[in-house]
Amino acid sequence: MVVEVLSEAQRRKWDASDDQLFYAEPRFVQHLDEAFRERLKRLYRERIPARAVVLDLMSSWVSHLPDDISYERVIGHGLNAKELAANKRLDSHWLQNLNLDQQIPLKTASVDAVLIVAGWQYLQYPEAVAAELLRITRPQGLLIVAFSNRMFFTKAPQVWADGSDRDHLAYVAEVLMAQGWPRPELIAEQTRSRGWQGLIGGQGDPFFAVVATRP
Ligand SMILES: C[S@@+](CC[C@H](N)C(=O)[O-])C[C@H]1O[C@@H](n2cnc3c(N)ncnc32)[C@H](O)[C@@H]1O
Repeated sequence: MVVEVLSEAQRRKWDASDDQLFYAEPRFVQHLDEAFRERLKRLYRERIPARAVVLDLMSSWVSHLPDDISYERVIGHGLNAKELAANKRLDSHWLQNLNLDQQIPLKTASVDAVLIVAGWQYLQYPEAVAAELLRITRPQGLLIVAFSNRMFFTKAPQVWADGSDRDHLAYVAEVLMAQGWPRPELIAEQTRSRGWQGLIGGQGDPFFAVVATRP
């Protein structure tokens, strides 16, 4: 059963047109800087066991997984076919607009780690997605929701567009717990720019992650 957390007003976004249109053209860009990506890769290295079945939900042409670790299978999901086809880490992928259909076409308890990077902020029905993620994750499996302080503003629902970084962490945790996930771990860290800028104190994209473990 899905427990609703958001009001209808909080689900609304500035650009209400079909998200598929927004993602129709591939974007072969990095949405997060190198400092953020390295921090994320380190988290994945520490938390995701080799041989895991991994689902990269809301993915693109990159999955940020450590290159030297082999997983049993990496399944990708997103909205742009060309980006997903170019993602070398994926063994398979599918396209689905999660704001139209939240049912995930994977078997119950079939995945060890679900990853969402810079994606949760576009979900209008995160409660139903979180409930589905609980269903497909194996006992002791992980969900890692990572994000920084940027977004495609017109595509983010009101609840995200209006919130601070701290609000975003609390909001993701609240939605997860409402669907039966245990209280997640919250990570909020500043990152250091790569290269000379980092040497003189330059900061990279701030790193936020919500890490939940299925009981
Ligand atoms: C900023 S990109 C991040 C992509 C990737 N995770 C990364 O780290 O580069 C946001 C992604 O969210 C996904 N997304 C956005 N809206 C979506 C929707 N309505 N349904 C499904 N996926 C969506 C798309 O896959 C899109 O590439």
